[in-house]
Amino acid sequence: MEKRNAIYPGTFDPITLGHLDIITRATKIFDCVIIAIAAKSNKELLFTLDERVYLTKIVTKHLSNIKVIAFNDLIAKFAKVHNVNVLIRGLRILTDFEYEIQLTHMNRYISPTLESIFFMTSKEFSFISSSLVKEVAYYGGDVSSLIPNSVNKALTAKIKI
Ligand code: COA
Repeated sequence: MEKRNAIYPGTFDPITLGHLDIITRATKIFDCVIIAIAAKSNKELLFTLDERVYLTKIVTKHLSNIKVIAFNDLIAKFAKVHNVNVLIRGLRILTDFEYEIQLTHMNRYISPTLESIFFMTSKEFSFISSSLVKEVAYYGGDVSSLIPNSVNKALTAKIKI
């Protein structure tokens, strides 16, 4: 039977429990989930690409059917290169939906066979974003129940620099 693979793209700066929730649920549906980490972003990034890849690998090491791959290209092209035609995206709040409509149509414009499918983020993580986590941590707030332990350690160390 043909393998059902999917790509979960993002900047993961850093990966949060919200992302991990989506990844874990996706691994139960797909044979392999490629976590595609974007090298660049319009947002200012705190962690280097290598650090984001490393942290993502560490916090997903218990999952056997995932791959973590960095990319510096259109996600539609990356998907083609890896012969995958499903993109996974998470939806948290209404504004995500508006942004996702744009992304989905643009990706389909570039690659008409590329489908996007959406997971509702579990409600306990629906208020998390990587930027908010970084901001709260920067001012000394406790984000330990929003991100994995190893990410919390890396974030604390990064902020001290
Ligand atoms: N739980 C917690 N946080 C979540 C989440 C979830 N389930 N889903 C999304 N988020 C957060 C992310 O951490 C991120 O937070 P931040 O803005 O504070 O950093 C925010 O929501 C937005 O996430 P996302 O929409 O995944 O954006 P992104 O910047 O992480 O990733 C790419 C966007 C990389 C997927 C997209 O820009 C891309 O494909 N780039 C490649 C170039 C390309 O093809 N461009 C054309 C696209 S049509």
